[in-house]
Amino acid sequence: MKVTAYEEWIKMDLIQRPRRLRSSETLRKMVRETRMDKSSLIYPLFVKEGTGIEEEIPSMEGQYRYSVDRLPYELERLEKAGVTKVMLFGIPDHKDEVGSGAYSPDGIVQRALREAKKRFPDIYFITDVCMCEYTSHGHCGVLCGHDVNNDETLKLLAKTALSHVEAGADMVAPSDMMDGRIRAIRETLDEAGHYMTPVMSYAVKYASAFYGPFRDAAGSAPSFGDRKSYQMDYHNRREGMKEALTDIEEGADIIMVKPAMSYLDMVSEISKAVNVPVAAYSVSGEYAMVKAAAKMGWIDEEKIICEMAVSAYRAGAQIYITYFAKELAQFMDEGRIG
Ligand code: PBG
Repeated sequence: MKVTAYEEWIKMDLIQRPRRLRSSETLRKMVRETRMDKSSLIYPLFVKEGTGIEEEIPSMEGQYRYSVDRLPYELERLEKAGVTKVMLFGIPDHKDEVGSGAYSPDGIVQRALREAKKRFPDIYFITDVCMCEYTSHGHCGVLCGHDVNNDETLKLLAKTALSHVEAGADMVAPSDMMDGRIRAIRETLDEAGHYMTPVMSYAVKYASAFYGPFRDAAGSAPSFGDRKSYQMDYHNRREGMKEALTDIEEGADIIMVKPAMSYLDMVSEISKAVNVPVAAYSVSGEYAMVKAAAKMGWIDEEKIICEMAVSAYRAGAQIYITYFAKELAQFMDEGRIG
């Protein structure tokens, strides 16, 4: 191959040369438009009845269900990694028609909170407020025939949120998708004097197959039908905006879009339209797909984790909820992402 002398190189009369700012790592880092921070990561955590339990979730390799006595080990690991926000999900032993385990003062989440708050004052505890892990039929509310009764469910959701806050939750995050639940929860918390406890609404939550592995993890798959009468149809964009704006009017402090990866258009649009922080939840199916493909040797797990996270922030999320929170924190420490 003939080596061309510098003087002989063809030079076009280009005014714009975007490659200039990509020509070295120093420049690339300097002009980065998206920067991430560990303080905006939230790690979802499953807590289960029993003792001595730390069991891996088959469809979510590397994720575990912990009994209350084992939770501290994981909280220590998180704290060490610099991930100081968790979202708790409860897996009860007992389920019934009305999901009473969700709002029992001795429910699994309530007990986990009481224990964990004592030992981990620097961890910020958010709780998922929903009924589906606690109902025998697996739906996110109480049934009337084969449909979830919206307004009856509101009372139970508000009761659940209050019991979480009374047990020490720093923030509550309702994920049920009933109409009016933000208002119901806000009013109940305020009346009980918890007017400073923020509510993060799973406002823009789609009926998604990406939740499959979570439902295995939490044993919360509906026993009949699906969630399409309350979670949103994924063909819709404007409806997502309506949900976000409605929840803000009802008092939501933070709006969440869920799932993340296939819904970044919603993250982008909503973050431009609203004046509250927007969170993106990279859900169980996203995690499981990365894990499975990496195991097959088909993708570079680390690079994919970074790319997925940055894309959520680039789209406009200020908060990122992810099962890869510990990995991301480590990559940030090592300067491999940021
Ligand atoms: C409870 C809830 C679900 C998820 C978060 N809260 C399951 C569902 O709606 O079916 C999904 C989280 C994930 O997939 O990681 N309603």
